[in-house]
Amino acid sequence: MLNAKKILLGITGSIAAYKSILLLRFLVKEGAEVKVIMTPAARDFVSPLTLSTLSGHPVAIDLFHENEWSNHVLLGRWADLILVAPLSCNTLAKMAIGACDNLLMAVYLSATCPVIVAPAMDEEMWKHPSTQQNLQKIISYGNKLIPVERGDLASGLVGEGRMSEPESILNYIKKEILANSKLAGKKALVTAGPTHEAIDPVRFLGNNSSGKMGVSIARQLQREGAEVTLVLGPTEFPLPLNGMKVIRIDSAEEMYRACTQIFPDVDIAVMAAAVADYMPEVMASEKLKKNDENLTLVFKRTPDILKSLGKSKRPGQVLVGFALETQDEKKNALEKLQNKNADLMVLNSLRDEGAGFRYDTNKVTIFDSKGNENSLPLKDKSEIAKDIVDSIIEYIHG
Ligand code: CTP
Repeated sequence: MLNAKKILLGITGSIAAYKSILLLRFLVKEGAEVKVIMTPAARDFVSPLTLSTLSGHPVAIDLFHENEWSNHVLLGRWADLILVAPLSCNTLAKMAIGACDNLLMAVYLSATCPVIVAPAMDEEMWKHPSTQQNLQKIISYGNKLIPVERGDLASGLVGEGRMSEPESILNYIKKEILANSKLAGKKALVTAGPTHEAIDPVRFLGNNSSGKMGVSIARQLQREGAEVTLVLGPTEFPLPLNGMKVIRIDSAEEMYRACTQIFPDVDIAVMAAAVADYMPEVMASEKLKKNDENLTLVFKRTPDILKSLGKSKRPGQVLVGFALETQDEKKNALEKLQNKNADLMVLNSLRDEGAGFRYDTNKVTIFDSKGNENSLPLKDKSEIAKDIVDSIIEYIHG
C-alpha cells in the first residue's frame, strides 16, 4: 500500500515518541522506505539504535557530525513525504516562525514534499492561544494536521492533547498518499536487465545491463501509485521490491512471451531492458567441445518486443521505449519512436560521459509522439527514473 514511498519520520522531544517506534514498524511493514530524523531533545525519549535498526538506515540528528555537514537539502529532496510524529509544542513554534536550529528544521524548511504533523502535548499547552495560533500558521503554509486525541496524558490528567494512535496515523498517511498518487488505479509493465541467449548448456550471449534503470523506473511508477509487474532479466541487481510482481526470465523469447501476455491488461509499458537482437539459431544440447578449427555460429533475430507491443497497442495505452545510440542519436531515436509506434522514447547516447550500462548515473533525452523533447543533465539513475515517470504522467494528463 505504501509501496516504495520514501518517508522521512521526524521525531521530536515528547513522551509520545515511544509510539513512533510502532509507527515506524507499521510504515516499514507497509512497504515504505523510512529514514528517521530526531531532534536532539527526542534522544532523551527513544533510542536512535532502536530506530535505526527498525528503519534500516542511520538516524540523523545533528546538522554537523564529526566536522561533516549533513546535506539537509538532499534529505528533503529524497522524501516523498515528511511526517513529524510526535510534534512537540517547541518544534511547532519553530515551524511557525521558520527557526532553523537543528537538522529536522533545516530539512523541513528546505523540503518540497508534503508535510504531515501529529502533535502531542498536555491539554493546557495544546489549548494555549500561542499553540493554536502556531497551528493555524503552519496549516496556512500547506502542512497537514493529524488531530490530537482525548485520553490519558503524561501529566496524569485526562484531556485533549494525546498524539493520535499509530494505526490512525498510518491510515491517514495511506489516504493522503492515495489522494496524491498520480497513477493510482493504473497498471504498469516494466522490463529491465539483460537477456541471455543460450549457445549451449553452459554458455550464452549477453550484455552488461545491470537492470538499475528499469528497476528504478518500476519503483518510481509504484511510488506514484501504479500496480507494477516487472519482467526482469538475469541480473544481480538487489531486490527486494516490496509489493511488486517480479517475473524472472532469461532469454528474449521468454521476455517476449511474458510481455505479450501481460500487455493487454496494463495502461503503461516501459521497455527498459537491453534485449538481445539475435539468438543462436540452434542451442547445442551438449556443451560445445573445442577443436582446432574456428567456430562459426549462426544467429537468428529475436522477437522485437517493443515493436510487437506497439502493433497491438490500444488507445489510451502508453508505450515507452529506450534507444541506446552511438551516432545520429536524435534521428535514430525519432525513427524508433515512429517505427515501433511508441509514445515516448528515452535516448541514451554512449558518447555522453557517465551514461549507459556501467554507471549509476545516466544522461537522457526524452522524446514523445506529440513532438516534445526534454534533454536532462547527467543525474543519478533514480532521479532520471523520476523524470521519465513525470514525463509519462505529463503525457497521460497533459
Ligand atoms: N527492444 C525490444 N526487443 C528487442 C530489442 C529491443 O523490445 N528484441 C526494445 C528495447 O527494450 C528498447 C528498444 O527496443 O526499449 C530499443 O532497443 P535498441 O536495441 O536500442 O534498438 P533496436 O530497435 O534493436 O535497433 P538497433 O539495435 O538497430 O539500434
